[in-house]
Amino acid sequence: MKPFHQIPFLDLSLQFQSIQDELENAALRVLRSGQYIMGQEVNAFEKNFAAFVGSQYAVGVASGTDAIFLALKALGIGPGDDVLTVANVSAPTVCAILAAQARPVLIDIDPETFNMDPNCLSEYLKNSESRRTARAIIPIHLYGRAADMISIKSIAREYQLAILEDASQAHGATVNGIKVGTMGDIGCFSLYPTKNLGACGDAGVIVAENQLTVAKLKMLRNYGEKDRYDNYLVGVNSRLDEIQAALLNVKLKYLDHWTQRRREIASQYNQAFLNLGLNVPGESQENLEGHVYHLYVMNVENRNQFREDLLQLGIGTAIHYPKPIHHQDSFRNVCLQANELEATQWACRTILSLPLYPEMSESDVDSVCKSIDQLVRGRRWTLPNTA
Ligand SMILES: Cc1ncc(COP(=O)(O)O)c(C=O)c1O
Repeated sequence: MKPFHQIPFLDLSLQFQSIQDELENAALRVLRSGQYIMGQEVNAFEKNFAAFVGSQYAVGVASGTDAIFLALKALGIGPGDDVLTVANVSAPTVCAILAAQARPVLIDIDPETFNMDPNCLSEYLKNSESRRTARAIIPIHLYGRAADMISIKSIAREYQLAILEDASQAHGATVNGIKVGTMGDIGCFSLYPTKNLGACGDAGVIVAENQLTVAKLKMLRNYGEKDRYDNYLVGVNSRLDEIQAALLNVKLKYLDHWTQRRREIASQYNQAFLNLGLNVPGESQENLEGHVYHLYVMNVENRNQFREDLLQLGIGTAIHYPKPIHHQDSFRNVCLQANELEATQWACRTILSLPLYPEMSESDVDSVCKSIDQLVRGRRWTLPNTA
């Protein structure tokens, strides 16, 4: 088979090129200003991002991991507390829970959506011993698709648990028109460069409605200072810097447009792959209109060979994520599993991410579709089994 043309899994330089002048001017403006930490760019970004998600307040921080850690601290969660989340992810969410000295409890996912399964969550909480130490739920809106917040909120209400949304992969995703990050007590976002809204370095942001929580977050990110050299809490240094904020202010203006393009590409993939009988992202499910397609994933058995064959056709892919949290050496003994996490294990074994970024051309998208068509019609691949 001949390659159509080379498509990398992701190429961030294309986004930079598309808005290069604006980004360079923003960075230069900060460099020339002499104000590098906590100045007007950070203030503006906090206002702009809060308006974007429809929240009262936003607090810029140094990373998504810090956002979750600081949010847990602001909610008073710490030693002796359990925080319920999922395991088909990379390390940061669990690292943040452990940094707060709480215990991560791993809940299984719904294999159709790859997000936390509310049935598994409620099953776990039926046990009085589990309920005794449970304090908070961290649903992760994985791949850009909102978790089932309606069910999760109702369970949280029943058991009086806080909800901290990890919206790091879902800037702008919605449930019934409401943006993720604003549906729980606190919303946390990574602004890592590859995210739908990404800085040119590390950055993160937290959104919240409660003024007291926001005041705590602002202190916690800055050594716990209430005023200069006047400490009220024990905090850390997790400030968002001015250059990153200036770049983010530029990029935020384009986010809706980029999301629109992500949706168009996803819809082209869906159409092409449905005809092949492939398992496309929850096509049969409701609530897809709010998906922002941070990643476009499919499931395939014999994944390594499939990837290798796609690479031969010039198509880069990635795996999000190959090893669940409870199989990682560092977390095995410090997390509690709600059950066998069968769906999580199936997802980690078969998941594959295809290229999807707003700068992909029509012919890029077409090449991906044709390559997959070739491979699948060649009948060398076991079609996915979502059971
Ligand atoms: C779901 C999720 N949570 C948290 C994070 C952590 O973000 P950061 O790398 O900015 O600390 C990431 C980013 O990798 C993520 O994808």
